[in-house]
Order: sequence, then C-alpha cells, then structure tokens
Amino acid sequence: MCGIVGYIGTKDAYPILIKGLHRLEYRGYDSAGVSLINQGGDLVVYKAKGKVSALEQSVSDKDISGTIGIAHTRWATHGEPNATNAHPHYSQSHALSLVHNGIIENYKTLRVELEKNGIQFAGETDTEVLVQLIEYMQVTHQCDTVTAVHLALKNVVGAYAIAVLDKRNPNQLICARKGSPLIIGIGKGNDKAKPGESEFFLGSDATPIIEFTDKVIYLQDEEIAVLNRNGKHAITNLDSIKQTPQMHVLQMNLDELEKGGYPHFMLKEIYEQPNAIRTCMRGRIDPTNKDIILSGIRDNKEHFMRARRIIICACGTSWHSALIGKYFIEEAAHIPVEVEYASEFRYRNPVLDTSDVVIAISQSGETADTLAAIQLAKQHGCFVYGVCNVIGSSIPRNTDSGTYIHVGPEIGVASTKAFTGQLITLILFGLALAKEKNTLDEVLFHQLVDDLMLIPEKMQQTLEKTKGIEQFAKAFTYCKNFIYLGRGYNYPVALEGALKLKEISYIHAEGYPAAEMKHGPIALIDEEMPVVVIATKRGMLYDKIVSNIQEIKSRRGKIISVVTEGDTAVKSMSDYCIEIPDTRDSYAPLLAVIPLQVLSYYIAIAKGRNVDQPRNLAKSVTVE
Ligand code: AGP
Ligand code: GLU
Repeated sequence: MCGIVGYIGTKDAYPILIKGLHRLEYRGYDSAGVSLINQGGDLVVYKAKGKVSALEQSVSDKDISGTIGIAHTRWATHGEPNATNAHPHYSQSHALSLVHNGIIENYKTLRVELEKNGIQFAGETDTEVLVQLIEYMQVTHQCDTVTAVHLALKNVVGAYAIAVLDKRNPNQLICARKGSPLIIGIGKGNDKAKPGESEFFLGSDATPIIEFTDKVIYLQDEEIAVLNRNGKHAITNLDSIKQTPQMHVLQMNLDELEKGGYPHFMLKEIYEQPNAIRTCMRGRIDPTNKDIILSGIRDNKEHFMRARRIIICACGTSWHSALIGKYFIEEAAHIPVEVEYASEFRYRNPVLDTSDVVIAISQSGETADTLAAIQLAKQHGCFVYGVCNVIGSSIPRNTDSGTYIHVGPEIGVASTKAFTGQLITLILFGLALAKEKNTLDEVLFHQLVDDLMLIPEKMQQTLEKTKGIEQFAKAFTYCKNFIYLGRGYNYPVALEGALKLKEISYIHAEGYPAAEMKHGPIALIDEEMPVVVIATKRGMLYDKIVSNIQEIKSRRGKIISVVTEGDTAVKSMSDYCIEIPDTRDSYAPLLAVIPLQVLSYYIAIAKGRNVDQPRNLAKSVTVE
C-alpha cells in the first residue's frame, strides 16, 4: 500500500530516488530502503526503520553511486516494521533486489516450497517470497530474469506492484503490477532517440516523476515492463504477449497528485473505500467453500469457545464500529458483547475474569486510553484481541492476537475508510466465530458471505449516488445544530455521522436512536433543526422509523434521509434524500455511512474548514 520509486538513465540515481521517497512520505509508512547497481557493478541495498531521513543518515558513509536504482517506503502488512523486513529485499544469491507494494496472499505456501528447496529467508515478509521465487524460477528453468519474473508472477495470488534489479544486467529495470498502481515516466530525451540521454522513472504515483517528465504510462494489471537504458521499453502480459501502452500527459500539480487528484485526503479516503475494503477482505474469504479465514480466530479457538462474554474497548469512531460489531457478533455467534469507552473502562475498576475476551479497536493502534484498557484487561487475565490498521503499532504489540484491517494509511484526521474497514473486520470476526460455534445454518452463512463479497461494488454504487450532496450541503452551512437518527444497526451510524459533522465543520450534532426522540430531544425540533435520518428499508424497524420521520415533519423539522434505492415513501417526506443500494440490515452501515461522510465533508468545505487537519484534533490521541 505504500511507495515505489525507480530510475534508470544518465543521472545519479540516488538523489532522484531519495527525493522520490520524500514525495511519497504523505502516504504514511514505517520504513524505507533503496537499492542501486553502483559504478563498481555491485548490487547494494540500504534500508532503515522509520523515516526516510533515517535511511539518508544510514547511507552517509556508503557507496551510493550508480545510474540505476529502486526505492521503497513500506506500509507493513506481513512482518514487523524493522530494517530486516524493510524493502528492498535481496534474492538468496544477492544477484536480485526487489521492492513491492501489495499483499502476496499465498506467500506462506510458496515459502514452504522454497524452503523445502533450500532457500533461506532473512525476514518474515510476504515480499521476500517473491524475489526468492523469481531467482528460484531463474535457476530451475535456466532462464533470464525477465522470463523468471513472468514465471514467478503466474504462481502468485494477491496484489503487487514490483520493481526488480538484476546486478548482471545494469541496463534494464524490470517492473510489473496487479492490483497496486505503478506509473512509468518517459524521459524527455527518450523520444529524441539519442542514446546516452534516455531515462525512465518509476513511481507508485506521479509525485516522484512529475518534476522530470509529464509523459507517463500507467502500467495495467498483469503487465510486465522492461525499461532499457537505451530508451526502449517493452511491455508484455503474463503470457509474454506484447502490449501497446497508451501514453498520457500529466495534468496535475504536485499538491493535487499527492491527494490522487482529490482536493483533500479525506475525500480521497472516502473514495478509496471500495478498494480498501477489497484489500481488507483479500485472502480472508474462501469464495469456493464460502468460508472465513481469520488466523487470529483459528489459532485461538479455545479462548473464544469458552468466552463468557466479549468486551470491546475503543474511542471515537472506533467505538461506533464497536457498537455495530456488538450487534452483529451477538446475532451471528450468540456471544454477549459489551461495548465500553476505553477512557471509562480503564478507571471504573470493571469486574473481569479469565473467561472474558477483550477486543481493542483502534485505527492508529496508539490511542492512550485504549492501550490502557487492554493493559487493565491483561492484568485480570483476559484474552486480548486487537483490530487495528497500523502494523506493529503499540496496541497490536500488546495484544495476544488480532486482525489488521489493511485499509492502507489513513491521513485525514476524520476517520472514514478505517471505520468501514473495522466494520468488515468485525463482520468477518462474527462469521468466523459463528462457524466455530455452529450458530448459523449453512444456507444463511453462505448468504452472509455472498452478500459481504458484494459490498465493495455496492460501495462504489453508493459513491456514485452521493454526487448531488455537494450542491445541497451549501444550504446547511449556517445551521447551528443537527440531529442524526437511526435504529438498530443504523443507530451507531447516526452517532458516526454526527461525529463526522462535529469534528470537521465544528457544527454541533447529536446522534440518537430514533425512538428516543419522544423522550426529550423532539423538543428541539423546529424549522431550524436539520434531522438526518438513516431509514434503509429492511427488517421490522423500517415502519417505525417512518413514524419517527412523520413526527419530525409535523413539527416542521427539515429531513435529510438516507434510504434504500426505490423507497419513494420516505423520499416524498424528505427535503433531501440519498438513495443507496439494497443490502441486508447488518451490512447497511457499510453503505449508509458514506453519504454522511460526504455530507459532513461538503458542509465543512462550504464553511471553509481545514478538513484534513480540523482544529484541536490529532490523528492519533496518544495522551489521556
Ligand atoms: C474519528 O474521526 C476521530 N478521528 C476519532 O474519534 C478517532 O476515531 C479516535 O480518536 C480513535 O482513534 P483510533 O481508532 O486510532 O484509536
Ligand atoms: N506486503 C508487503 C510488506 O508487508 C508490502 C507492504 C507495502 O505495500 O508497503 O512488506
């Protein structure tokens, strides 16, 4: 999920590579590295945990000559963030070096086979399997490196963008992609066909490339490119069939490029959700057997099978996802689930014992209150499980086991794709438990798995349906208060929508279970009080929330509704209505939250707010 930079040409490669890594720093990362074929013909690899500046310090006395190189900022998915697991990775003979973005799903199987054939690994990453497999193919098939790359990639399941150096051929840079982006920059000298002036650039996005050239090729899935020092490039598919690439001219400036063309990281991350959720589910659903593959559950069955209850501790948006997780896990696995604000749990001296399972949900993995909550749980002998996004962060390092949500770096302070990634992970968790405890009949279980696999596409459709929000959001710029309402699974969505609006627009907003209105809050309703109602059309609560809407309308409240597409009844009662695809009740939050994220974004923009870094807030609350 992080960053690749590559160069082959007439200039010194290192300055271009390191500057490219700095350009990619905005994407978030935990370690960095560079590999060069230096002027002495050696293939060198330098890498360091932490910032790119740490890498720069580590090479201050090293030979960083050479006009060909690759570099990488890592966002760890498999293997702790440390210098050993950082990229680039050498092949066993040190003839090859490789950098990779993505996840090799079948890396464990491949690694076992390679180890059986005497290959020794330096680290724990999925990536290292790839470079060893390429060399293994080369040796066993007695072929060149390009052919070995083709053969290796045909055996790989998962997502990759890679760049490969072969010390025996300093005139070629090999790259390939499937599922992770990779852009080739065509040097300005190339088309003059003047040997000695040709150069190629490589980047996960165009930010490391744009200052050198605006002519690019977007490598397509399952394409392999060989970039030659003489300015020639050859692109083939995995079957070695020649591809004719389309040339593009970059139109964006650097700032726009860093945000992928979006004006803010928050909007970029809202739109990343379909792909982020695909990555979150990658390798965790067996589509053939319709089974769930969560090693954290599989390897700790005994703790879950004897659990008296599950307690989920979290803060903010993560606490909202915990509420939805509670509903789903109880419904699917029939285990009582309690949800606690970590900040309250850590001080109220809760009654705990060794039969309790405590789950900590945290995007950053560094939230002080949540970390303290799990320390308390461990003191009481509870089994502690983490649901986090940042690999190797403090919370995962202090839990007994866990599941990473794998949605990639979330830069915007307002959490969006991490929220839906947490929901997916909690649904997978609930299904895996239900399977172990045999609490769901097989037909329903398969339907739940099938419906879950449809969610990324339905998220994409939902994003398409939010196009009109930017226009009507302006009408609410000057409101002082909002109320958000939902029932059942959509009640925590109401809380999340209210939090999004509060934290980026600074407008006060409250979320309620819709039925609570008559117990006091309905006194607030008048024509100055916009009410956002999530009224997706499933289950027995739909009719009740329609009644709640009528109560509000009769008091002149303005209604913004999120409904299941085709629901004309609620639409006719609404001042503004966003229709989302139909899905089952328990999955509705995954879609219903998206219009609320977009609504809060455009209201905040209309108010001129700093959407990515709202006042008083931090992305990770590492203090009490
Ligand atoms: C959500 O948009 C906020 N940024 C905040 O509530 C956040 O969810 C909370 O601080 C918890 O953070 P964590 O998930 O990293 O633990
Ligand atoms: N899965 C690889 C690793 O954990 C690559 C991660 C990335 O995309 O940075 O090293």
